[in-house]
Amino acid sequence: MKKNSVILFLLSTLLSAREASSIVSSVCSECHGTKMQESGLGASLIVGALDSQTIYKSLKGYKYDKRDSHGMGSTMQEKASELSDDEIKALSEYIPTLR
Ligand code: HEC
Repeated sequence: MKKNSVILFLLSTLLSAREASSIVSSVCSECHGTKMQESGLGASLIVGALDSQTIYKSLKGYKYDKRDSHGMGSTMQEKASELSDDEIKALSEYIPTLR
């Protein structure tokens, strides 16, 4: 019984958290490129060149503080509002590894 509930728990966390790599390829790459090597809509910095902490703070800023760095913050506010805090953390760790 105990073993089963541990397995169920692990399975459910696996299924509920989207992988950072799949978020990049299904959402972010549309504007930032598959390796986050492009400027989003010609406005943003190259996100793939930023460090984890900067990416983390930026995404949190778009989600919670109406961050707007290049006059196109509303675009990113909308994208970031769809990310969980865990996904933001996973993305900020994953993106610098794409370099
Ligand atoms: C519809 C196009 C679009 C999509 C999709 C998109 N972005 Fe952006 N991104 C932008 C734009 C435009 C900006 C600049 C916003 C501003 O003015 O602050 C930006 C800015 C950023 C920044 C801050 C960089 C800077 O210049 O300070 C980060 C980090 C970022 N995006 C990450 C992501 C991640 C991660 C995803 C996927 C979840 C994503 N973006 C999806 C267009 C997009």
